[in-house]
Amino acid sequence: MPTNRELYFLLKKENNKYLPRSVIVSLLMDASDFSDSMNLYSNFDREVKDVERFYNNVADVKKGIPYQYVLGYSYFLGHKINVNKEVLIPRQETENLVVDVIVFMKKYFKEGDKPVVADICTGSGAIARAIKEEIKDAIVYATDISIDALEVAKTNVKDVTLLEGNLVDPIIDKGIKLDVLVCNPPYIEDETRIDEQVYKYEPHLALLAKPGTKYYEEIFKKANKIMNEHYLMAFEIEDNMEKPLINLMNKYLDGCTYRFHKDIYNKLRFLYIIK
Ligand SMILES: C[S@@+](CC[C@H](N)C(=O)[O-])C[C@H]1O[C@@H](n2cnc3c(N)ncnc32)[C@H](O)[C@@H]1O
Repeated sequence: MPTNRELYFLLKKENNKYLPRSVIVSLLMDASDFSDSMNLYSNFDREVKDVERFYNNVADVKKGIPYQYVLGYSYFLGHKINVNKEVLIPRQETENLVVDVIVFMKKYFKEGDKPVVADICTGSGAIARAIKEEIKDAIVYATDISIDALEVAKTNVKDVTLLEGNLVDPIIDKGIKLDVLVCNPPYIEDETRIDEQVYKYEPHLALLAKPGTKYYEEIFKKANKIMNEHYLMAFEIEDNMEKPLINLMNKYLDGCTYRFHKDIYNKLRFLYIIK
């Protein structure tokens, strides 16, 4: 049986565009059931536990299928998140959004407070899961319009109420008032901006919106029905949305302050609205 080192260098030599170093490492970790890369590196000269699984996965990845769908999971802020083709693979940028929300919540809520939070457009449930794990007292809801996505989310969250429906409508229907709303909605208007592999494999329901700002507008419109007097709303956005979103905030939201933040690639990516 080949060792991790042998397979690693064998694949690296191929220079396949779908198999960069990080993907080879993830596939090797999976084949030996290692939960972190430290385990892999400290066993680099050991035989791979399940070589057949490894080769099957490599064959699928070479077809262009995102490796997270091939493995059936991804990681989000250190949490293992089940994924399949019904949900967007959680992104690193979104981790940034959630860290900012958690830092805000730790600053503004005391232990024992029970802040009410909703992850709108939850998909895999990654955002709701990370918030609930960090802010144990939070009461967390998560909504999505896709039943198939919610089936996946169900496997990823604990003590989070999942609600099916359009954006914040399930929150309104249940008469829930929120302290914090987090949302990474579909926001890509121009399909040509989408990476070929993403467009081919990830759900279009999770990606596309026309106009790109339509989901933000719907939420802003209904903010007074769902938010408490003081609140945080945190959104992932596309980098060309600053002006239209400012116009929409001026139209629908009163007495708020807002901040746009960039992601680690220096692109405008987040909007925080505070009241
Ligand atoms: C960009 S993905 C975000 C998934 C996840 N929150 C994340 O950050 O990885 C958008 C999600 O919105 C859901 N969605 C699309 N239209 C919706 C709507 N009208 N109401 C609620 N959810 C919707 C999709 O099913 C998808 O799961």
